[in-house]
This record gives sequence, C-alpha cells and structure tokens, in this order.
Amino acid sequence: MRTHYCGQVDKRLIDQEVTLCGWAHRRRDHGGVIFVDLRDRAGIAQVVCDPDRAEMFRTAESVRNEFCLRVRGRVRARPPGTVNVNIASGEIEILCHEIEVLNPSLTPPFQLDEENLSENTRLLHRVIDLRRPQMQKNMQLRYRTARAFRRFLDDAGFIDIETPMLTRSTPEGARDYLVPSRVHPGQFFALPQSPQLFKQLLMVAGFDRYYQITKCFRDEDLRADRQPEFTQVDIETSFMDEGEIIGLMEELIRTVFAEVMAVELPRPFPRLSHHEAMRRYGSDKPDLRVTLELVEVSDVLRDVPFKVFANVANSEGGRIAALRVPGGASLTRGEIDAYTQFVGIYGARGLAYIKVNDVSQLNETGLQSPIVKNLHAAALQAIIERTGATSGDLIFFGADRRKVVDDALGALRVRIGHEKGFVNGNAWEPVWIVDFPMFEYDDEARRWNACHHPFTSPKDEHLGLLASDPGRCLAKAYDLALNGSELGGGSVRIHRAEVQEQVFKALGIADDEAQSKFGFLLAALQYGAPPHGGLAFGLDRIVTMMAGAESIRDVIAFPKTQRAQCLLTDAPSGVDEKQLRELHIRLRQRVDTQVEIGKA
Ligand code: AMO
Ligand code: AMP
Repeated sequence: MRTHYCGQVDKRLIDQEVTLCGWAHRRRDHGGVIFVDLRDRAGIAQVVCDPDRAEMFRTAESVRNEFCLRVRGRVRARPPGTVNVNIASGEIEILCHEIEVLNPSLTPPFQLDEENLSENTRLLHRVIDLRRPQMQKNMQLRYRTARAFRRFLDDAGFIDIETPMLTRSTPEGARDYLVPSRVHPGQFFALPQSPQLFKQLLMVAGFDRYYQITKCFRDEDLRADRQPEFTQVDIETSFMDEGEIIGLMEELIRTVFAEVMAVELPRPFPRLSHHEAMRRYGSDKPDLRVTLELVEVSDVLRDVPFKVFANVANSEGGRIAALRVPGGASLTRGEIDAYTQFVGIYGARGLAYIKVNDVSQLNETGLQSPIVKNLHAAALQAIIERTGATSGDLIFFGADRRKVVDDALGALRVRIGHEKGFVNGNAWEPVWIVDFPMFEYDDEARRWNACHHPFTSPKDEHLGLLASDPGRCLAKAYDLALNGSELGGGSVRIHRAEVQEQVFKALGIADDEAQSKFGFLLAALQYGAPPHGGLAFGLDRIVTMMAGAESIRDVIAFPKTQRAQCLLTDAPSGVDEKQLRELHIRLRQRVDTQVEIGKA
C-alpha cells in the first residue's frame, strides 16, 4: 500500500513519487491550499494539497484530525523560510496527487499535542494516547532495549526458558495475586512475584545459563516507579562467583547503554559496601551525580545540653548525621521551612541547622542557629572539622532512629543537590552496592527478615553468625543503582540444603513450614545442586530512565493506575454469580457499585 514511512521521506527523495499511509496529525487550510501533516510511527511529513486537482482537493477538504489516509504525491523541497529543522522530513514536502480516506475518525478525546493532560484521561483513551509521537518513541525504545538485552545474553550462551505463571507464592516480600482453582475447591495459585525458585531449579537441572524477559506480579503499594505487573530481565548462572557475576552483568548493562543510547558508561562501575552507602548517602541506591555527603556526628554529641541530640546519641539504633550545604547560609527562612516540611514526609521530627556566618567565631556570634546555645565548644569544633564547613555554609542535622535519618537526610541530599546544582555534571552514574546484610530486624513482628530473599547465600566467613549474631551476617548480594534508582538486584544463592535450613531457622521459619512451602527446593538441593547465582533487572525502570520519562507508566503500553486498575478495559471488574460458583467462591460482601475512579 505504501512506499515509505512518513518520517523517512527526506531530501534524497526529491522529485520522486512516494505513497504514504498514516493519520492526519493536523490539517491547515491556508485559503486555497490545504496542508496535512501526515503521521505514522516513524514521524511526520507535510502534504500540500493544491486546488488544481479538484477531486483530490475535495477529499482533502473533508479530512479531519486522526483520519486514516493514504497519500500519493511528489517529493519537493520546501520553499525557503518554511524549513523545519526539528524533524527528519523538515526540508521537504509532498505535493499531493491523490488522497484516499482509508477510514474517517471521530473527533479524538484530546489533541495529540495537548500538554498537561490528566493521567486518567490518557489511560482511559490509551489508544489515542499511544499515537502520540513521544509514546511511539518510548515503546520503540523499550523494544530496542529488550532486544539489546536478548542479543547480549544470547551471544553469551544464555538460553531463554519459560517458567510458570500459575504457581505457588515466592517470598519476594510483597502480597501475592491469587488465582482460584476451579478443579481444587478452596485452593489457589499465586502469580509469580519473580521466577526466583524456578530459575534456581533450572540450575540444579543443569541448564547452566538461563534468562527470561518476563512478567512479575506484586500486590504492593504503588509509587511512580512501581507497577503491580512489571517486567524483569531475569538471569541465573551456575559456576560463577559473586565477582564474576557482577562483572558479566556490568558488561551487559554497558553494552545495552552503548547500543541503545550511544552512552559509554564507566568501566568498571564503582562499588560501595552497603554500610558505606548508608553512611555517606543514607541510601542503598545513592544518586552519585549529587556531590553532597552525610557526615556522622553522633559520637561528639553525647554530652551536649540539647536533649534531642544527646538522647539520640546515647540510644541504641539512633543516628545523628550532618549535611553541609556549601554557600547555604544564604538560604531563606522559607526555604529552610520547606526542607523541614520535606523531611517530615520521612518521619523526621525536625531539621536543626547551623548557618556558619564566620567560621573563626564558633559561638553565637559566628554561628546562627536555634541550637548553638545548647551545644558546647568541643561539639561545635568537631562538627565544623568533620563537615569541612567554612564561612557562608549551612549545616543541616537529622537526629532520630537510624532509618528515619537515612531516609530523611538521604532524600534531602538529593533534593538540595539537584535544586542548588551540587552535581558532578555526569549524566549517568551507575554504582554497585555490595556486602548487604543478610537480615534486617522487623521491630513490630520482632523477628529477622531476609534483606534480599531467603535463598541468598551468606558470606562464607559469616556462616557461623547465622545462629549466633544474624544482625552482623553479610550476604553475597548485590544491587545495581543508577542515578538514584535501583535497576536490578541479585545474589549468589545457597546451594546446600543444610545452609538453606539454617537460614530458614534464622528467619524463624519452622521445619514443617519450610517443608510445606519449599520442600521441592530443599529436595532439589540434595541432588548435587551446583553453586549458582544471578540477578534480575527491572526493564520498565531502565527504560523509564533512558526515556527521561516521569513515570514508569509512560514506558508501558497498557499500565495500571496508581490504584492498580486498568481504566481502558475497566479491570479489575466484578464477575457473575455462575463464575463465582464454579470457583467455589462466595463474596463476604456484595460489591454492587463499581468504584468509578477517573471515569467522569
Ligand atoms: P527484586 O525484587 O530486587 O529481585 O527485583 C528486581 C528488580 O525488579 C524491579 N522491580 C520493579 N519494577 C517495577 N515495578 C515493581 N513493582 C518492581 N519490583 C521490582 C526493580 C528491581 O531491582 N528474584 C530477585 C532477583 C534475583 O535475586 O535474581 C528479584 O525479584 O528494578
Ligand atoms: P526545638 O528544641 O524542638 O525547638 O528544636 C530546635 C531545632 O532542632 C529546630 O530547628 C528543630 O527543627 C530541630 N529538631 C528537633 N528535633 C529534631 C530531630 N529529631 N532531628 C533534627 N533536628 C531536630
């Protein structure tokens, strides 16, 4: 039907006849001449319709936005002064000989170039939204990224093996999406939170190198970078140690970025221990573009009169950290108040600060602050030395439980860094976070949880700590962070049944529970399971960053809303009584009215 894509027609085709198919992006009537911007997935070409071909002109007059058209015409240079340097076809136009309406269109619910559309409108009319050039680009970028992953992994001898969607729950820490079984009344499948256990079983089965680009399902609180169903590039290998896996995965990411984005990432990526990342950045996915760092000051504040600080400094599990903002003495009251409110989101109960007006006078004359009168000279001296503050700087303080301080000052560091330009100028800053703890303590449930997942191997030299001091036990686990986002994470796995049993014990999982939930894994580990490990990258997140998109929903064709709904198909939805009966399900409460979010 056509000879070229609209976006491909350029000045090399001048004087040639082309046939294009696409949608009327815009139609302009310039008294006697009609211009149609014809759009397809490759771009836009300008079609000029002169009245001297009467029939063609009449058809052009009937064209409205989003009509589906076929156009035949001759390519010619645009008259001087009308060249559009922003598009590939900007130097040419097509003098229309023939135009055919393949299908008219209703007036679209919004103009494709309309900005500030509400997300609900976009998701409700997703088909039209996907026609927008930016969305077309995003989906092509996603495809090219997935293809680059595949190509590297195929070439490196990994084989793509599918794992079940109807399975039992894998503990990745979120709630499961459940699927009722009709044949087994009262029993449920879980959709996989990841293929974790199956890929380990594939290693035991001898496949050696596996990958899969596959859907994972997690019923968790949604944020801008999370979806209830999302895609992982899931990888597992046998007979590679932690360093070898990290090295290969790093090469994979470098190759994908080079191929898709023409970006050269550093070689090698820097590595930070989890401990150091938390200490310096308050985050296990630090944004290393930001040059500001947190500084530890608890130890010099134990005996100061300011009770908030002294209490935290003397408490178990507390942290006091300082964040120096160079030149920050010029921050206004309003800015400081806004930052104080911001850290409140993370549970911080205040944001103490010292403006260093004159570093040669470490007292109420040289330092402007609500707390200076309650700190003594030795503490002030130590704070100034450790932060390296000079006249004109400002120092913020967070004092609270460690997690609150890490979250609050970690986020403040990133916000001020980007707002005030404390960035190193690099566009991409990848970093491996290694030496994660095996466990984190859940204060409410009063038990240890796995930091990564329960199949992650402890460091060999820490095996003895599993029973005696689980909090100090480090794991062979690693995450890859990029510009403050977690792109992927993985670990070397436990390949010996007795170690797996010890870890279950440390997690407070009783023997019978371990058998009933993971008996198949424990059994497989007893048949010569090889040392193995792997990792999974979040494809949606990687593409979001590459596209510079604000939300993960902009790189998924048919995403869910923040409330985990598909507005386009109106899912989830009620089902009829017969279906429920077949599934042996009786609802505890009849849901008669559908929640009509965003359908106004
Ligand atoms: P993990 O749970 O860290 O590891 O997930 C791996 C990566 O998947 C992405 N991701 C998500 N992306 C979008 N929406 C979500 N709700 C979401 N949750 C996770 C992140 C994350 O880094 N089985 C292990 C991997 C392994 O050990 O091999 C796992 O699933 O980018
Ligand atoms: P207050 O003594 O409560 O008036 O607080 C004095 C200063 O300390 C104010 O600037 C508060 O924002 C700050 N502040 C109070 N609690 C904390 C805390 N937990 N961490 C950091 N700063 C705090």
